[in-house]
Amino acid sequence: MEKLRILYTRELIKRTVESLAREIRRDYGGHNLILLGVLKGSFIFLADLARALDMPVEIDFVGLSSYGAGTQTSGRIKITHRLHTPIRGRDVLVVEDIVDTGLTTSFLLSHLARKRPSSLKLCTLLDKPSRRRVEVHIDYLGFTVPDKFIVGYGTDWDEKYRHLPDIRIVEGVKL
Ligand code: IMP
Ligand code: MG
Repeated sequence: MEKLRILYTRELIKRTVESLAREIRRDYGGHNLILLGVLKGSFIFLADLARALDMPVEIDFVGLSSYGAGTQTSGRIKITHRLHTPIRGRDVLVVEDIVDTGLTTSFLLSHLARKRPSSLKLCTLLDKPSRRRVEVHIDYLGFTVPDKFIVGYGTDWDEKYRHLPDIRIVEGVKL
């Protein structure tokens, strides 16, 4: 049975999300922003961020999947849930759980850019730069994480542990 060790407590996550929200509100103040969550990993982060933002936003989701079971990215990205909001001429902020190799996020950003939003930025709670394969520009970042497998607060290991309120490291797993 795998062991889970706390990396970031729920209190620290809350303070970090509030500070990201302040930055975003300052940058977009008054604009009619679309928060675009990437399913499934961002669902808890997006829910907390949207409430901390305290400004009018629209919310939509895209579903992307790159992993089969296990901890390695397959490099092949599938759209599992399409975007329903027309984003042409809109300000779009993509909300991700974690940028790891960068393959998923860069695929999504180029897909969205072709729809000609008036601005397109990226907010991710977690960044794992050690395994990057393609460059991704992150506009708003919560935490830079070590080269470990992370679960909780939306992120999963084989669909387990998304519900955990703290962010944890899965110990004894080789990436
Ligand atoms: P990337 O395409 O390698 O950047 O990975 C993108 C997706 O893989 C993320 O949005 C996560 O859903 C998942 N992922 C990557 N690293 C982790 C991790 O440490 N824990 C849980 N999910 C991860
Ligand atoms: Mg994800």
